[in-house]
Amino acid sequence: MQRPTVLLLFGGESSEHEVSISSARNVYAALDDTKFDVVLCFIDKQGKWHLLTDLGMTISTHDAPQLVPALGSACFMTVPASHMIKPDVILPVLHGKNGEDGSVQGLAQLLHIPIVGCDMTASAICMDKLATKQILAANDILIVDFEVHRQGEPKPDFAVLSAKLGNSLFVKPARAGSSVGVSKVTSETELDRALNIAHQHDTVVLIERGIMGREIEVAVLGNPPKHQASRPGEIMADGEFYSYDSKYSSTSGSTVTIPAEMNDETEQRIRDLALRVYALLGCKGLARVDFFLLDDGTVYLNEVNTIPGFTNISMYPKLWRQAGLGYPELIERLISDALDA
Ligand SMILES: Nc1ncnc2c1ncn2[C@@H]1O[C@H](COP(=O)(O)OP(=O)(O)O)[C@@H](O)[C@H]1O
Ligand SMILES: [Mg+2]
Repeated sequence: MQRPTVLLLFGGESSEHEVSISSARNVYAALDDTKFDVVLCFIDKQGKWHLLTDLGMTISTHDAPQLVPALGSACFMTVPASHMIKPDVILPVLHGKNGEDGSVQGLAQLLHIPIVGCDMTASAICMDKLATKQILAANDILIVDFEVHRQGEPKPDFAVLSAKLGNSLFVKPARAGSSVGVSKVTSETELDRALNIAHQHDTVVLIERGIMGREIEVAVLGNPPKHQASRPGEIMADGEFYSYDSKYSSTSGSTVTIPAEMNDETEQRIRDLALRVYALLGCKGLARVDFFLLDDGTVYLNEVNTIPGFTNISMYPKLWRQAGLGYPELIERLISDALDA
């Protein structure tokens, strides 16, 4: 295909709207306009799709036509002008709800337009930390012990939970990302507060055993069975854990080490596990697979991100750069895998 038209989707309704915009600026800058015709579509916080002509420092939707999908016709129509936009491929640089959770992937399927990354089912499963854990546990992959709290159920007792999961707990929404709604808890009062915060993002909340371990991430690329795992990278979070601010604040002292220091056997085990989990959950295109590594070599699978960050500081593109695949080549590869799938 000569110079495919790429519909770059960014923004979105989720709490990670700003992260998405900052990833999209990088992706847009890396897309070679001699190779791709790029159409920019900004999704606002209300979920409206706007056709933009550029992606400057400020985003204005004033006078921007809306994009409306023409299901089954592999195209969108602009409103009000009624022009047809016919992308060859959709590139979703969206995180969280209505972006990374299978909804946009399902829309692409109904439109009959290929989309970069995982399909609807794998996206929905990986977005849902409870569903992911259940599948991994059923396949004997070590996950962190947890309990589930559903909105409206009685508040659990800290003493009962800590007898089972230890004195340090992590409370998190089942379907969120970027550490939004995640809290570390060491007392009854903190537990109540953490549950309230997490329930602002999801009706289903996980309460996990707090793990004292290293945070290790592996980038996986490609369509199984030809998918590849990068060498592992390590996050050294600034603060008690890798919170939203320690991820994205300009003053954060969080650092990454690529490749992470570990012996060859552990590295191979983690890379093999990343490849296995990716195939098991039905991933294709890309995903970042995140682990906790203990001093004794125990490896826990924490989560799988089907649209990892592409900001300046993001681990996924950094891991591939270390392996010799630069940012523009990585984006090109993702698009060609989507067109081949
Ligand atoms: N069980 C846990 N033990 C220790 N730290 C945790 C645990 N769960 C989460 N964290 C910390 O919180 C961060 C965010 O949690 P995570 O499960 O990765 O959700 P998100 O999808 O928001 O990134 C992790 O990177 C880690 O620093
Ligand atoms: Mg995470």
